[in-house]
Amino acid sequence: MKRVFTINGSPRKDYNTAQLLRAFADGAGEAGDEVEVEEVNLYDLHFTGCRECYACKLRGGRSYGHCGFRDDITDILDRVAHADVVAFGSPIYFSEITAQLRAFLERLWYPFVQFKRGEEQIIAPQPVRTAFLIPMNLTEQAMLRSGYDALLAPVLQWTQYIFGHEPQVQYCYDTLQYRDYDRYWADAWNVAAKQLRHERHFPTDLAQARQLGRAMVEASLTD
Ligand SMILES: Cc1cc2nc3c(=O)[nH]c(=O)nc-3n(C[C@H](O)[C@H](O)[C@H](O)COP(=O)(O)O)c2cc1C
Repeated sequence: MKRVFTINGSPRKDYNTAQLLRAFADGAGEAGDEVEVEEVNLYDLHFTGCRECYACKLRGGRSYGHCGFRDDITDILDRVAHADVVAFGSPIYFSEITAQLRAFLERLWYPFVQFKRGEEQIIAPQPVRTAFLIPMNLTEQAMLRSGYDALLAPVLQWTQYIFGHEPQVQYCYDTLQYRDYDRYWADAWNVAAKQLRHERHFPTDLAQARQLGRAMVEASLTD
């Protein structure tokens, strides 16, 4: 049995991030009969980032190496760390992933970094294959000019350091932010061009996410 998680760090459950994650999940399901996909919508859950309770670092503590702070994500964190493949999705908010996904990652990562002299620094239970699906308003050229890739690099580096595999990254550019642009003040954007891009290119983004989900689960079959 291959266990796959999709973690939606967008508040919207049917827009760009959610659709990319669903395509990823569909692809993962195509990789074999024995694939179980669990969908998590972070904005449905009550939780915060790391509270510095340090239960995960306490000498002789029951929660050593695990997040000991009880809220809606405590059990999910443990299950995610034992998954085969995890796809994190987040829109870009002010050049970075959303605060919700960041908070989730703080809680996921920190218990697995230990500071015991003479021992391995990373104590995650197993390697996990991860992907980041990241939609944004900007075009690819504007995103590179704005340096989002450099701002996102630490998130990818920590994930790789802790879970052992290089994260796969799929950016999705120039997204449709609203279904009906006429209802909102948004005419600073070239709305016709965005709608055309959505019709012509978003299906390719979804196909790429689907292919990625399938390829990652197939790769995990050899683990
Ligand atoms: C609070 C907020 C901040 C945003 N900041 C950026 C940004 O810095 N750069 C960008 O390209 N898009 C930005 N966007 C646009 C979203 O990334 C884009 O609309 C994305 O498709 C939303 O994801 P969703 O459709 O899954 O909800 C922002 C949107 C919001 C609501």
